[in-house]
Amino acid sequence: MSDPSPASGALPPLRIAIAGLGTVGAGVIRLLDTNRELIAARAGRAIEVSAVSARDRAKDRGVNHERFSWEDDMTALATRADVDVVLELVGGSDGPALALSRAALDAGKGLVTANKAMIAHHGLSLAEQAEAKGAPLKFEAAVAGGIPVVKGLREGTSANALTKVYGILNGTCNYILSEMEATGADFAEVLADAQRLGYAEADPTFDIEGIDAAHKLAILAAIGFGARVDFASVRTTGIVAVRAADIAQADALGFVIRLIAEADVQEGSLLQRVRPCLVAKDHPLSGVDGPTNAVVAEGNFSGRLLFQGAGAGDGPTASAVVADLIDIARVFENGGEVGAPFSMPVAQLAALGPADPANRLERAYLRFTVNDRPGVLAEITAAMRDADVSIESLIQQGRGNADGEVLVAMVTHEGPERSVARALELLEGSESLTAAPLVLPILPA
Ligand SMILES: NC(=O)c1ccc[n+]([C@@H]2O[C@H](COP(=O)([O-])OP(=O)(O)OC[C@H]3O[C@@H](n4cnc5c(N)ncnc54)[C@H](OP(=O)(O)O)[C@@H]3O)[C@@H](O)[C@H]2O)c1
Repeated sequence: MSDPSPASGALPPLRIAIAGLGTVGAGVIRLLDTNRELIAARAGRAIEVSAVSARDRAKDRGVNHERFSWEDDMTALATRADVDVVLELVGGSDGPALALSRAALDAGKGLVTANKAMIAHHGLSLAEQAEAKGAPLKFEAAVAGGIPVVKGLREGTSANALTKVYGILNGTCNYILSEMEATGADFAEVLADAQRLGYAEADPTFDIEGIDAAHKLAILAAIGFGARVDFASVRTTGIVAVRAADIAQADALGFVIRLIAEADVQEGSLLQRVRPCLVAKDHPLSGVDGPTNAVVAEGNFSGRLLFQGAGAGDGPTASAVVADLIDIARVFENGGEVGAPFSMPVAQLAALGPADPANRLERAYLRFTVNDRPGVLAEITAAMRDADVSIESLIQQGRGNADGEVLVAMVTHEGPERSVARALELLEGSESLTAAPLVLPILPA
């Protein structure tokens, strides 16, 4: 079926400005050029670039931007008379990206951004500003790149009460963990390869410490649960402590290890966490490899939904940015409105307190690095018994390494999280342990 284009030609073009001509900005120009006619048909009018800005005008970006006006100071884009919508594709939670975004909304322009850090930190105040000005604010590309999960939760599941939202939201970590799985190599070696291949930044902190996934989770949780964005209360653990030996043990037990971002609401409290988890090999998330992202949303009427695709890259991210523009082109300045950025007006979003997971029940994988000497195993199992942790299986690696260390891995039966925390407290300071123990929860089926 061909697309209806009832208003094609009738409406003036939607005029945009692009701040940032890096991976995403250049991708947007390429996409607008390549799919020009299809986009105009779907948007009901043409989308035209009026002006652009980046730091270095002379840089070769693989796209011709000389045909557009150039602004050295990107905030000048916000007040140009020939601009309806500003694209913020610069990055950074504060600084120039935030100044531009505030200026654009203040001038009554629409704002489209791919900036998860800014939306996680300032999304609510930007949404308030957008509401006050009647201007659209959209950020599909900020979460899971090309996957239309913001739209999916804002619109597709809007009739549901969601029970939980979780998934794999950081492609760099997923690439590293799946490479460790495929090659048996340790974290540091795979990270160095990922940096060489461009899958990890020179400074990978935001990715490997789980902060990037936490930004995205805070945005998804706000939309999914109709809650105020609360990035500060996301409990975040990265993947740095995961060793090749953990991946091998998990494999032997029927699991893979993935960095899982998860949020749910119980008794009016919001639990948001990012942590490496064991994922059973028959769970849909276990097959999500490499830089791919995936989000699972569970609705009380929709059941389980799985969104999966490329979480980054110029094409997928540009696809999400331009989809937001098409939404705006259809309704903005055309008598309609694009809807609240977080699914409902900011004043209606619930201020949910952060949940304390201590009494939540879960199974966990525990790994201890211990001195290879008699009595160590008894000491660990005694701590488990005293803390009321029930052990489902226990594996002790056959031989010690050159330092006389062995790994002891175990899987617990389901029990309250506080019990495992208590067992670790009991073992604190033990001379038998040569490194901090690792606890990886097991993702429920
Ligand atoms: N890359 C992805 O796959 C991806 C996916 C999802 C979301 N995002 C988000 O999209 C945004 C952009 O990411 P990116 O990967 O495209 O970044 P990038 O390749 O580093 O590009 C950033 C652009 O911003 C420009 N810029 C930086 N500081 C500036 C300033 N003070 N004034 C004017 N321009 C400035 C840079 O100019 P120069 O080129 O002249 O240096 C560059 O063109 C970020 O928020 C990122 O988190 C990216």
